[in-house]
Amino acid sequence: MTNQNFPNSNSALAVIILAAGKGSRMKSALPKVMHEIAGRPMINWLIETVEQLNPEKIIVVTAPDMGDVKDAVAPHQCVIQKEQLGTGDAVKPAMKELQGFDGKILVLMGDEPFLDLADLQNMISQDGLSVMAIEAHDPHGLGRMVLKSNGTLDKIVEEKDASDEQRAITLCNAGNFCFPAKHLGDWLEKLNNDNKAGEYYLTDIPAIAAKDGVETHVITAGARNVWGINTRLELAEHERMAQIMLRTRAMQNGVTMIDPDSVTLSWDTTFGQDIIIQPHVFIGPGVSVGDGTTIRAFSHIEGTTIGQSTKIGPFARLRPGSSIEEGAAIGNFIEVNRSTIKAGAKSKHVSYIGDTTIGEGTNIGAGTIIANYDGFYKHKSEIGKNVFIGSNSTLISPVVIGEGAIIAAGSNINKDVPANAMGIGRSRQENHNGWASEYRKMKQNQKNKLGKKAVK
Ligand code: UD1
Ligand code: MG
Repeated sequence: MTNQNFPNSNSALAVIILAAGKGSRMKSALPKVMHEIAGRPMINWLIETVEQLNPEKIIVVTAPDMGDVKDAVAPHQCVIQKEQLGTGDAVKPAMKELQGFDGKILVLMGDEPFLDLADLQNMISQDGLSVMAIEAHDPHGLGRMVLKSNGTLDKIVEEKDASDEQRAITLCNAGNFCFPAKHLGDWLEKLNNDNKAGEYYLTDIPAIAAKDGVETHVITAGARNVWGINTRLELAEHERMAQIMLRTRAMQNGVTMIDPDSVTLSWDTTFGQDIIIQPHVFIGPGVSVGDGTTIRAFSHIEGTTIGQSTKIGPFARLRPGSSIEEGAAIGNFIEVNRSTIKAGAKSKHVSYIGDTTIGEGTNIGAGTIIANYDGFYKHKSEIGKNVFIGSNSTLISPVVIGEGAIIAAGSNINKDVPANAMGIGRSRQENHNGWASEYRKMKQNQKNKLGKKAVK
């Protein structure tokens, strides 16, 4: 059967990703598939791989209260499984969206972010039904592949339902199937929940298909330490794998890491060449780093564009919406938030720069604070080119400091300063000659009279 929504449909592919499970082993209020690996939800890693198969449709199955999953997978479609009755039941709401589709349907587990594209292509290229298997180092929690004496699949047994002998099997179900669309609806109707978990298991389908004379091809993916994410430990293991992959790619492309294991990157971090990253640097999503930049130890960077030949840190914090342009320097204990530091500008010691543009060649003295928040609103300030801000100054936003201006150290500035003017906003100093010696004398007399007792 063909349908006008699915042209050439008998060779076409649709993908269903199951993501409605409670994820109770994660002990979390967040849907399992929204837990992040290298800064993005695990389901988005899987979707990136699946998109490369160019399917007609990708349909994600979620539970009723998972609006954030819907947002994360957009523009792909979400359907809702009202009650979480098992992986077999979860496929059913997606089938309603595939009426008339006559190609292949790949059903994937949303908690397996690192599927290999070639393994999926291999599954799709098989006739009939195929299932992915893995040789697991630790098969705990996985379904076991029970083979016939001729090596073909007899059935899949979930761990909860397995005998001791079946539990000893290390060839496990990776969870992913490729079905001929024309049979899948019927096979799903034949599932029952007569098992220890009381769930409709997708894994019962190979045995049902065999009765219709459809063999299941087993595609074995490479051996893995862990397979799928059911617990926080497995999440951490996937994070470790992602970090190794991201660091390797960065180093292959010209980044030096003195201690790679202590550097955290994000899925979308981009680097130029000849960048040096010192130990203990965290890079969150939305960061790009230009050629020749050095990021010193213990810096925390998110959502920031870093230009060429800049120096960042040690102990710098760059927050989203920031840009550090060519040759600029951000030193220790500097927080930059939604701000632009233009070419060659410097802020090297203990400062907060929020909602501000800092002009080319400007120098921000130690301890400068831009007071951008009045308790209700955030305000913007602009500091021109080649300005010098003396140490321990507070700029109360919004202010505009003109090109070439100098701000005297220790100033509170709440009015604009014209170009090339000196802005000073501090109380005047007075010196009282001899006052200190008089004071010491007076205090010493008091102590001689009262002894060491505290004065009331
Ligand atoms: C499943 C397989 C197991 C396999 C393992 C591999 C079944 C019955 N078991 O077990 O053989 O070794 O994956 O990772 O298929 N989900 C729903 N609705 C539900 C239940 C689950 O959408 O009612 C989704 C979950 O969100 C998850 C996926 O299906 O993304 C797998 O569910 P999960 O509970 O993690 O199954 P496993 O116990 O890992
Ligand atoms: Mg799982």
